[in-house]
Amino acid sequence: MIKTVKDVDLKGKRIIMRVDFNVPMKDGVVQDDTRIMAALPTIKYILEQNPRSLVLMSHLGDPKKDVKKAQEKAEKAGKTWTDADSEKFINGKNRMAPVVKYFSEKLGKEVAFLPDALGQKAAIDALPEGAVAMLENVRFHKEETSKDAAERETMAKELATYGDIFVNDAFGTAHRDQASTATIAKFMKEQPVGGFLMEKEVKYLEPMVTNPPKPMVAIIGGAKVSSKIAVLESLLKNAKYLVIGGGMAYTFLKAQGHNVGKSLVEDDFIDTAKKLLADADAKGVKILLPVDHVGATEFSADAKPVAVDGVDIPSDLMAMDVGPKTVEEYKKAIGEAKSIVWNGPVGVFEFDAFAKGTEAVAHLVAEATGRGAMTVVGGGDSVAAVNKFHLADKMSHVSTGGGASLELLEGKTLPGIAILATK
Ligand code: 3PG
Repeated sequence: MIKTVKDVDLKGKRIIMRVDFNVPMKDGVVQDDTRIMAALPTIKYILEQNPRSLVLMSHLGDPKKDVKKAQEKAEKAGKTWTDADSEKFINGKNRMAPVVKYFSEKLGKEVAFLPDALGQKAAIDALPEGAVAMLENVRFHKEETSKDAAERETMAKELATYGDIFVNDAFGTAHRDQASTATIAKFMKEQPVGGFLMEKEVKYLEPMVTNPPKPMVAIIGGAKVSSKIAVLESLLKNAKYLVIGGGMAYTFLKAQGHNVGKSLVEDDFIDTAKKLLADADAKGVKILLPVDHVGATEFSADAKPVAVDGVDIPSDLMAMDVGPKTVEEYKKAIGEAKSIVWNGPVGVFEFDAFAKGTEAVAHLVAEATGRGAMTVVGGGDSVAAVNKFHLADKMSHVSTGGGASLELLEGKTLPGIAILATK
């Protein structure tokens, strides 16, 4: 178990804390504050302990990737791209100031905004007793995400001077080995500890790979087999039923020799799918693939839904959702479960005409929580789905991590967690 802020004495200490305030923004306005609200309990607890100061740091967006995209676009249009363009681009986007303002309102306390992530030691030392401050986007410095450990270390060393104790509550970024998420721990004199969000995420996600209440049902959906293969293999170890839905199901159905029409298929992964089906068989894990579907002639919100009452799909249709017989199978499996982990929708739920399967899954998982099963939803799209159907509060845990929750479920050690002291 990781040590948390409760296991150390924070009184009079300078705290440097990594949060994941990488929230969706539009025109400088926060679109979804889930991650900000999820960090508040730890922040409030720290402040109740009367620390000398609390300095928060986060990334927002991916400035390096943004520059690459802008550069590609400019070059395609025949323009020359210079370092000055990159600089201008980075400085104009992904600024932390509006997030800090929003967070300060939610906290109900003034939060000092420090206009850079580096060079802030003097400003931090000058903060009044008990003050909260937040740094500018850590990713404005290329050292944050550098693959070169020595480069990351130069930045981490300086960040480490901002506090006596490093607290990591940024679960969403725990799979990144970066200066402010992991490298910083090397330079702290006192043991780094987790926040309550980090503790809760690990408490619910980790048992799904190690020792879940059984029988366990894993529901894995989403578009691509390639991005989910490691998690499927990992969950095979403990699941009684492995539900495979969404676009990725059609690579499996094709591997079984079915006609999948115009559905999304990753032909390079047919052999991988065959191997996974054979492994499941050998382990006695029952794989649930769709037995009927809702199809359409084109991928569009306005496409006319067509019921396909069997496994095979006519050649002019692509599968967009699972059908009612498949949902009946899900119902039986989920009805038995003592634990359920769900990552990825089973249909194109963003389009209302193709949302029924995913909505049914959300309700079945919510009902399972109601009868005492441990239910965990992880991954951006399935979280968006439970929010769309207003069922988030009916789950034992809804993860704030996309990539992080997936990697934890794959059984990987996450750098941002590995550096924390344990008890
Ligand atoms: C996320 O949104 O998944 C985290 O904040 C990590 O962001 P990243 O994928 O840009 O590292």
